[in-house]
This record gives sequence, structure tokens and C-alpha cells, in this order.
Amino acid sequence: MSVIEIPGHPHPKPGEVPLEAVRACLGDCHRCPLGGTRTNLVFGVGDPHARVMFVGEAPGRNEDLQGEPFVGAAGKNLDALLAFAGLGREEIYIANVLKCRPPGNRDPQPGEICACSPFLREQIRSVWPDVLVCLGNFAMRFVLHTDRGITSMRGRFYQTGHFAVLPVFHPAAALYSRDKQGDLEADFRLLGSWLAEHPAGEGA
Ligand code: URA
Repeated sequence: MSVIEIPGHPHPKPGEVPLEAVRACLGDCHRCPLGGTRTNLVFGVGDPHARVMFVGEAPGRNEDLQGEPFVGAAGKNLDALLAFAGLGREEIYIANVLKCRPPGNRDPQPGEICACSPFLREQIRSVWPDVLVCLGNFAMRFVLHTDRGITSMRGRFYQTGHFAVLPVFHPAAALYSRDKQGDLEADFRLLGSWLAEHPAGEGA
């Protein structure tokens, strides 16, 4: 059962609700106070039928200004990392746990996650990817329902229902850490190997 109901889709099957309907349901969202401080709501971008969906934390300054996820420094790093998996931006879908920028890029608060994450859940059900790549702690905790930290979880896949889940460090956290960047590169190579071993259409 879905926490929010998308008008016209009372009992949607996976992949049935178009992303446009999820976006329309968000509207000019003011379900939490971030609606009053954002410049743009950052919904998500990419292939609506992607095999691999990336989940980030929340928009930063550049994303807030441009209305698109991962267009700043972390996004440049994400682009570079995608090459290690043999993927291009046009092949993936990206969305965040929060759709609006927390002031000063502070951590998302529980009430904000509670108000916003049902829309991420609907985006995931709409895209229905084989793989969910969680970028950092907030995405991982939402997807895997865990309190554990990313450092002890990264480096392997977890199966949760239909989805193969790969938690990785947030690409922004690696900008100033060679060790984390090395781990990210290894994890994106692992993603590339997983995709090669699980060709599309053969079930995850
Ligand atoms: N960091 C995120 O988690 N998401 C973005 O869209 C940009 C930076």
C-alpha cells in the first residue's frame, strides 16, 4: 500500500504510475517548512525506465538554483564515477530523499523526511529499477530501513524485495578524501560487474 495516493491510480502496480503524475501530486509543495526557503523544487531527472536508479540526500545550492539533482561539484564527481560502471547519465534516473534544499545544506530532519520520502517511494515504484544505488547515509537508511552507517554497509549488494541495493559513500564526502574516492571507484566497478552479470530482461 502506498502512503500517498496518486489521483487516478488508487491501486497502482509497479511501473504503472508515470513520473509526471507523481510530480503533479507534489504540486507547489509546502508540506514542510523547506517549501518556504527553496528556490526550486528538485524532483528528479533521467530515464523514466532506468535499470539503475540513484538516490541522493537533498538538493544543494546549485541544484536549488537550477531545479535539477547533482549539477554541482558532487554531480561532477558522480559523472566521473559513472564511467567506472560503464554508465552514462542518460541511462540512469536520479532523485533525492528531500526535494527541497535544507538551508545551509544542513542534514535533513526527521519531519522533513517523513513528509517528503513518500514521493521518493512513488518515484521508485514508477521507475521500478533493478538496482538502487544509495548515495550516503540518508538514502541508505531510507531504502534499507537501517540505523547502521554507510562505512560498514558499503562495498556489497543487499537484496530488498525486487531491488538489488548498493550503498556507497556520498560523492560529496569523497571530494576531500582520497580513501573514500578509492572506495567509491571500487563500488562503481562492482556496479558495472553486477550489471554485466545480470543482463536486462533476465530478472535481477
Ligand atoms: N547532494 C545530494 O544528495 N543531492 C543533490 O542533488 C546534490 C547534492
